[in-house]
Amino acid sequence: MDRSGDPMKGPPADRRGSISFSRPLGDHCVHMGIELEGLSSKAIPGQFFLIRERGVLDPLLGRPLALVASEGNVLEFLFRVSGRGTARLATLPPGAALELRGPCGNGFPEPVRNELVLVAGTLGIAPFIGIPSFCSERVRITAVLGVPGKGWEPFVEWCSERFTGIRINSDDGSIGRHGDPVEDTLLIVGQRHEVWGCVPEAMLRGLGRVHEKGCDRLLVSLEKRMACGTGGCLGCSIRTGSGSKRVCVDGPVFEWRQVFGGSHEI
Ligand code: FES
Repeated sequence: MDRSGDPMKGPPADRRGSISFSRPLGDHCVHMGIELEGLSSKAIPGQFFLIRERGVLDPLLGRPLALVASEGNVLEFLFRVSGRGTARLATLPPGAALELRGPCGNGFPEPVRNELVLVAGTLGIAPFIGIPSFCSERVRITAVLGVPGKGWEPFVEWCSERFTGIRINSDDGSIGRHGDPVEDTLLIVGQRHEVWGCVPEAMLRGLGRVHEKGCDRLLVSLEKRMACGTGGCLGCSIRTGSGSKRVCVDGPVFEWRQVFGGSHEI
């Protein structure tokens, strides 16, 4: 992951690319590499790209996918097949032409603490895959992953190869611990930890309980439907304690307290 220069400067660019590889990870997920035409793209973990099939108007909107890794001109993504757009993307062969807009959003900063806990629900792990190579060596990383269970073994195995410390949780108890990743996180965090989360909306508020454990630095990456990805349409706006924010440009990474800490509704 390239940390040189200032990847946050300037608006996201519209780029052309083509699929260099596409591999299923079990029945639910796809790991895809996309080769960009022209210059490589500087991006950091937590930033995302809007991706769509070139020349196809239905679906019209690009699918926001978090960047997993980049190597030269090839960007890697993970996605869950969950609708028409991703189902179509999953069936495209190597060489298929795509349009990309990005990198969008702010991405994750360098952690402040030496102990970093990354909490993810299924594909929420995507923005965290590049974190071990992004952070300085002083940072010890533990990933806490939650999956539904049976059928997710290939995905879990793939994720486990990318973190030296990873705790697995499953809803049905068939893989790792029986339970959800937020409960598991509460078992291990304390004052010395920094926590970053990318979990389903229903778990986001509960993740704030890490504050009760003395952990005072909690960042969350929010998922929202995106249209423009450049801050122009306001379609991804949320209400925060410091006013309205657009997830695509002000986020997707926010301080948990900024989003959930006040009496406002997001
Ligand atoms: S997607 Fe248009 S403002 Fe965020």
